[in-house]
Amino acid sequence: PAAVKAKIGNLTPLRSKRIRTSGWVHRLRDQKEIIFVVLRDGTGYLQCVLSGQVAQTYEALTLTLESTIEVIGTLKTVPDGQTAPGGHELVVDYWKVLGASPGGEDAFTNKLNEKSDPSIQADLRHLVLRGETASAVLKLRAALLTAFRQTLIEHDLLEVTPPCLVQTQVEGGATLFKLDYYNQPAFLTQSSQLYLETCLPSLGDVFCVQESFRAENSHTRRHLSEYTHLEAELAFITFTDLMDHIEAIICETTNKLLQNPASAALIKQLNPTFTAPERPFLRMSYVDAIKWLNEHDIKHEAEDAEGNVIRDESGSPVMVEHKVGDDIAEAAERRMTDILARPMFLYGFPTELKAFYMKKMPRDGAAGPTFTESCDLLMPGVGEIVGGSMRIADEEELLAAYKREGIDPAPYYWFTDQRKYGTCEHGGYGLGVERFLAWLGKRFTVRECSLYPRCATFMFV
Ligand code: 4AD
Ligand code: MG
Repeated sequence: PAAVKAKIGNLTPLRSKRIRTSGWVHRLRDQKEIIFVVLRDGTGYLQCVLSGQVAQTYEALTLTLESTIEVIGTLKTVPDGQTAPGGHELVVDYWKVLGASPGGEDAFTNKLNEKSDPSIQADLRHLVLRGETASAVLKLRAALLTAFRQTLIEHDLLEVTPPCLVQTQVEGGATLFKLDYYNQPAFLTQSSQLYLETCLPSLGDVFCVQESFRAENSHTRRHLSEYTHLEAELAFITFTDLMDHIEAIICETTNKLLQNPASAALIKQLNPTFTAPERPFLRMSYVDAIKWLNEHDIKHEAEDAEGNVIRDESGSPVMVEHKVGDDIAEAAERRMTDILARPMFLYGFPTELKAFYMKKMPRDGAAGPTFTESCDLLMPGVGEIVGGSMRIADEEELLAAYKREGIDPAPYYWFTDQRKYGTCEHGGYGLGVERFLAWLGKRFTVRECSLYPRCATFMFV
């Protein structure tokens, strides 16, 4: 009978039928009389059994890992007690090589293995992607983006696509990638926030999934030079509404993934002990966090006026207590989330530490520092995955903020205009997709969560 052509992931309804499929040789076990091939096509893995005449050809004897082959045969349910991906195997009666892979054995067993150097892994990222873990991470990433979109749409947000080429900074001049735009200076976008704000009067609440670029010369586990930024902006809300919304989006998206058998299996594969976070998340003010760090004897590196780390005679950094006004650095933040071991909002950061557009909290008394209606969502193992805030709604206040930050207001005229033609209390947030995925899939670094990561250390592929 004619064989039905199907992808590996769709074979279950075709058991006991003759089928035809193609893929890459993922695993190969040659037992002289009989050859076992695990075939991979991106939708799944299929065990193929080659025996008798089909195992005795020249092509069979010289078959290597990663060759592409077409197989035709009968799909059999594997008996109880035996395991095969999908619970079935293909008894092959005809097959052929479509593309040979002469270097397959060497590249995939000698050069690339768990012990190979990170720089080799980076060089060979295009081959690493063929592995079971890397491909599971990317499949989970796709499911995550779909689930986020569904959740945001359920919350009545509309998706827009803002530009990547811009002439305004959002998160400070230090991390801008500058470029020449027809003889004019321009940048790669750091955040689509300002554009999202301009959509509120015409489209209502909006979100985007867009690449953001940061020239961060920091070699950390969680910084990329290009990352996927999920951002949302909401009108007529309070600061509490904003944190409630972020919490809802995170939890509902995670639950969608756990309820879907395919994505739940990926989470189980990558992060076997994962449990959905419980609401409400812990909410701790910045001032309380400073106290908490000191109570737990978590210090930070002392810096001189130029921002250089101060060292003692032995060359070790001098560690000092945190005080109000200090940035909570990555190491301290990580210690905090490791100890508390649950998602938490840190909110109310000092104005001097935060971006120009953030709304100030009502001052507590006449003197002292001002704080902003800002929040970071921290996850155990990763730290900050979301940064959000309420925005300055008043034009005069915004003009004063440009001045304080030394920003030329001219290129921001369209952003300032929002405060002239019917302003409103509004706020939003940005979520680092790779960081969220690192938390969900328990990855050591965000580099594993990006198709082709770009960061300060390398851009090989
Ligand atoms: O905290 P950030 O800088 O906030 C903004 O850009 C706001 N304008 C967003 C908004 O309100 N619409 O960045 C938001 C998030 C961070 O919490 C982090 O998860 C991620 O973006 N992020 C990075 N991820 C990977 N590599 C980097 N270099 C990142 N910088 C920020
Ligand atoms: Mg931030």
